[in-house]
Amino acid sequence: TNESAIPGYAYGAVGHSPVTLDELQALKATVMFGEEDSALLHRAGELLGDQVEEILDVWYGFVAGQPHLVAQFSQPGGGPITEYLQAVRARFGQWIRDTCTRPYDQAWLDYQEEIALRHTPAHKNETDHVHSTPVVPLRYLIGLIVPISTTVRPFLARREEDPAQVDAMLQAWIKAVVLQVALWSRPYAREGQW
Ligand code: HEM
Repeated sequence: TNESAIPGYAYGAVGHSPVTLDELQALKATVMFGEEDSALLHRAGELLGDQVEEILDVWYGFVAGQPHLVAQFSQPGGGPITEYLQAVRARFGQWIRDTCTRPYDQAWLDYQEEIALRHTPAHKNETDHVHSTPVVPLRYLIGLIVPISTTVRPFLARREEDPAQVDAMLQAWIKAVVLQVALWSRPYAREGQW
């Protein structure tokens, strides 16, 4: 995938995160994310690379099946905005690759803040020029960790026969997702309480 061809994907071209690298380090330690997890994610990225569209089919099916979720891609009180769903889908696919292969450095931290803001009134709807709901409720971000995590297992298992290896990669994936949603909770938290 040519990243620059993904509309609205702005990795390396966003504002500076207010979160420090020290705070990131502490959060990584809190979710028990270590060097081994980076290696496991790289391997997962290799296995998932050509399955990204199928994974997105599962996740989008999940969102489409729940009115309170699909509402976040809809006109308030109206139907889903197809172009919005499609545009975000392309960036979501890139996010899978980024989660597996990018170094979790300053540029990555900066883009985490941007993804966070895109779920909140600060930047939601802006990138795709749509008129949808102003904010994705934080409780759903936290809740979605479960399906985003568990649904990846069969895709890993399809390409790796050792269940212990599959579990290790899945655990690294879950740590990475929780780490990111924890970072994304920042703009939702009251000043001084994040
Ligand atoms: C945008 C991931 C929870 C709705 C995005 C993007 C990613 C992402 C990667 C695109 C970022 C970019 O623009 O580069 C996730 C993950 C979640 C989560 C990993 C939880 C673990 C949710 C939930 C909803 C939601 C629960 C509610 C349906 C949206 C919407 C956008 C978006 C509407 C587009 C925001 C905009 O206007 O730019 N999400 N998301 N997300 N997500 Fe989420």
